[in-house]
Amino acid sequence: MLELTGLTAGYHGGTVLHGLDLSVPAGTVHAVVGHNGAGKTTLVHTVAGLMRPSAGTVRLDGRDLTGLPAHRIARAGIGLVPQGRRVFAGLTVDEHLRLSYRPPRRGDPERPGVWTPARVTELLPRLGERRGNRGAELSGGEQQMLALARALLGSPRLLLLDEPTEGLAPALVRQVHGLVATLAGEGIAVLLVSPSPAQAVESAGALTVLTSGRATLRMDGADARADGSALHAALELATTAV
Ligand SMILES: Nc1ncnc2c1ncn2[C@@H]1O[C@H](COP(=O)(O)OP(=O)(O)O)[C@@H](O)[C@H]1O
Ligand SMILES: [Mg+2]
Repeated sequence: MLELTGLTAGYHGGTVLHGLDLSVPAGTVHAVVGHNGAGKTTLVHTVAGLMRPSAGTVRLDGRDLTGLPAHRIARAGIGLVPQGRRVFAGLTVDEHLRLSYRPPRRGDPERPGVWTPARVTELLPRLGERRGNRGAELSGGEQQMLALARALLGSPRLLLLDEPTEGLAPALVRQVHGLVATLAGEGIAVLLVSPSPAQAVESAGALTVLTSGRATLRMDGADARADGSALHAALELATTAV
């Protein structure tokens, strides 16, 4: 279970996240929807330890991780799939998998599942087929799978997914949401951020609209799927926009 309380963060120019409270129980997907510039990546980076919050706390299963460096946060069980995938153009799929494999060490908190390169390629068979290809030779969808594989190889308790379906064809978008649901089914907590309400609600158990770094709407995922009007209103979109 991830618990954020009063999370506040920003850059030299000022505050971007304004006291966000949010929780993601194990085995559930929480979607954060917001326009470009709303602070989604700032949120994800702050939870992952790439930025230090100026106030508030980050807790994972009761353990206070606030302000720890990224490598300690990763060891505590938080895996990041960054916006834009960030795969290495010159490294092969196999090299990515071997470099990312970080089995839990003694003293690390327990994991919902331990991921090895073999298990990851079982879940994502396309990566097995592309084992010898370099990052630059992969399609956008394959790069996204590789970015997900890298995060899984740390055997996370919580996955942070920053716009995982950006630029993907509809069939791949569905595949990514299917994978997200599968991973949540294994007990992983998932925090997914997206500018697109249609893509965010698909696998979400709960949903937060982020507007200029503040939560402006909370909804149950099933309610949002049944009736998107409140969601669209919060995002100031026409109901026909999705
Ligand atoms: N490295 C940075 N330095 C200064 N300002 C930044 C930086 N990254 C993002 N910002 C600003 O923070 C705000 C939120 O950005 P971001 O978290 O990337 O939003 P989102 O991911 O929702 O598009 C924006 O106003 C953006 O210009
Ligand atoms: Mg972003």
